[in-house]
Amino acid sequence: MRFEQSEALKRLPEQFFASLVGKTQALKREGHDVINLGQGNPDQPTPQNIVKAVQQAAENPDYHKYSPFRGHSFLKEAVAKFYMREYGVGVDPETEVAVLFGTKTGLVEISQCILNAGDSALLPDPGYPDYMSGIALADAKPHFFPLLEKNHFLPDYDGISDEALNLSKLMFLNYPNNPTSAVATREFFDETVNVAKKHNICVVHDFAYGAIGFDGKKPTSFLESEGAKDVGIEMYTLSKTYNMAGWRVGFAVGNPSVIDSLNLIQDHLYVSLFGAVQEAAAEALLGDQSAVNELVETYETRRNALVNAAQSVGWDVTAPKGTFFAWFKVPDGYTSEEFADLLLNEAHVVVAPGKGFGETGEGYVRIGLLDEPERLEEAMERIGRLGVFK
Ligand SMILES: Cc1ncc(COP(=O)(O)O)c(C=O)c1O
Repeated sequence: MRFEQSEALKRLPEQFFASLVGKTQALKREGHDVINLGQGNPDQPTPQNIVKAVQQAAENPDYHKYSPFRGHSFLKEAVAKFYMREYGVGVDPETEVAVLFGTKTGLVEISQCILNAGDSALLPDPGYPDYMSGIALADAKPHFFPLLEKNHFLPDYDGISDEALNLSKLMFLNYPNNPTSAVATREFFDETVNVAKKHNICVVHDFAYGAIGFDGKKPTSFLESEGAKDVGIEMYTLSKTYNMAGWRVGFAVGNPSVIDSLNLIQDHLYVSLFGAVQEAAAEALLGDQSAVNELVETYETRRNALVNAAQSVGWDVTAPKGTFFAWFKVPDGYTSEEFADLLLNEAHVVVAPGKGFGETGEGYVRIGLLDEPERLEEAMERIGRLGVFK
């Protein structure tokens, strides 16, 4: 028998990058040396102190039982200490922190928490595709706002109609930004708080790349802005800062009513994370941070290698300010998909076409800083040999 999918599942957006993954695998099977810069999977291992912590904690029989529904207090206290240490922001561990199975989960759940069918939500174009997944499951309406280079890839709130602002209950933001690699300023977040207050919007700031800022500039937390906790939450993942993508651990901090809703939905979906993973997450947040500094240096070295190599083959590019992505313009005469296909087929270099992140992403490709500098340089040399830059 074949059972029909629910309407909710049918509403889910298509996975744009699935065909790219298929084409990449086919080339690899044919034995080509493919340089894959198309995905967002951190390539370095988790720091040893965190791995050791999970190994030891796995022996603890207390963790072989169900965890407390809303996570262990020691992890929520570690999150509060981390926010104070990193951003000077105070959060109450019991009412203002929710433990998440990675932030992908939280970013999808949040729409179920806030939106009813037919409600509107604001989200960036280009943007991380999972915001839309949650909105679709909630049967709500997306209102995309463009992120344009002339605005440093920040939203222009004056350009969003009053109607869209008044109708929207939720807004997603993400800085440092995937895919554009832009960073936000404190002034922008201050303005966001004002807009959210005026129009009654719950702001969800996705701070996935919170640790990854270049040129000595530490990215700003949304919660540093006065009044931010009143209008929203921030989601933080350990996947990028601590190379823990496979561990599935993150958290949300901020507005207690929103945190309570996230906890409520999770009471019905999970019994929180494996206790040993929670203990290792606390070690990550509070233990030795030298690996984080080294990681940022590694990405900055790669960024410099990529940008220099791109410029030396005649590609006119702007250096990323944060994240582990570069957002480069495609040369005239190509769509982002055509250009990505050309690089894949002729140079065996995988990049993500900007269109996959939204209509406004057309004209760009996203390149991951997820290989050694020599490989990034080689990728640019191979692309240079195609003779597409005039
Ligand atoms: C912008 C952004 N948000 C959220 C996530 C989700 O991260 P995780 O589910 O590993 O916490 C990612 C992962 O690639 C991301 O790029």
